[in-house]
Amino acid sequence: MNPTPTVAAGPQPASSIRDLARCLACGASLRGESSCPRCGRAYPCSDGILEAIGPLSGRNRIVAAFYDGPGWKRFRPWEQGFLILQGGARKARMEILRHLLIPGRDPARGLEVGIGDGANLDVLPPGWVVHGVDIARTQLQACLRRHPEMTGRLAWAEAECLPFDDATFDACWSIGGFTYYRDHEAALREMCRVTRPGGPVVVADEIPGLHRAGLGHLLGVPSFDAWWLRRLGLDREFVQMVLAFDVDLEAVRTRVWPESSRHRIWHGLGYCFVNT
Ligand SMILES: C[S@@+](CC[C@H](N)C(=O)[O-])C[C@H]1O[C@@H](n2cnc3c(N)ncnc32)[C@H](O)[C@@H]1O
Repeated sequence: MNPTPTVAAGPQPASSIRDLARCLACGASLRGESSCPRCGRAYPCSDGILEAIGPLSGRNRIVAAFYDGPGWKRFRPWEQGFLILQGGARKARMEILRHLLIPGRDPARGLEVGIGDGANLDVLPPGWVVHGVDIARTQLQACLRRHPEMTGRLAWAEAECLPFDDATFDACWSIGGFTYYRDHEAALREMCRVTRPGGPVVVADEIPGLHRAGLGHLLGVPSFDAWWLRRLGLDREFVQMVLAFDVDLEAVRTRVWPESSRHRIWHGLGYCFVNT
């Protein structure tokens, strides 16, 4: 099978992200302007990245500091090793992206939430017009270096407050990062809101609590797990966040997306929620 994306008929034109944006404060469409025509809130665009973000709090503050700082660079080789063990990055990513693809449909306008440096763009079909948001500005800059064609298609924004009009995209997805989003319920609702009715919305990540298989937990010495998580490159605050995490993501999924399905990915080490 050679799947192509699911979408409305006809190729979608590439749009500047400001043409698609709406005001976070009052909800008015920006209509391509640099400030909200209704309330005047400014939406600067620098280096081809729309700034639609406020002060970060909770897990989002810790996560942004990690991805913007040296921690992610230290940890990245472990992520790459993990993907190799899953049969390679393409295979591991396609386990998730396949839910966005339906044979015989035209190219889509899609939104990747938590786009990072744009690694999924290498795997998606070439006809797709992808836009992206992320809370870590350095990741968006890395995405532009890797994919210059993303200029004008990226926003510095939180999954929980997406700066777009309703039903703007044909498909929306988040791969990696979801587990530690500040507010999972808000993010799931926002991803559905900005996607046209019937368009696929897909969220995937590693299952939380993998560290509980660590020696420290098995021996009843969790501080040992904190130590080796630090050795993997994670920031101290990030490790504390991982060890304290207690959200039941499955309960959130069934409450917010009652029609969705859950898929086992990455040999059981990951989850994938699909809502259509
Ligand atoms: C593990 S990386 C994955 C990047 C990319 N999706 C991929 O598959 O390679 C997770 C990304 O999600 C971003 N992220 C985490 N929490 C977020 C949130 N609440 N809103 C938007 N982006 C977020 C991080 O900054 C990071 O760039």
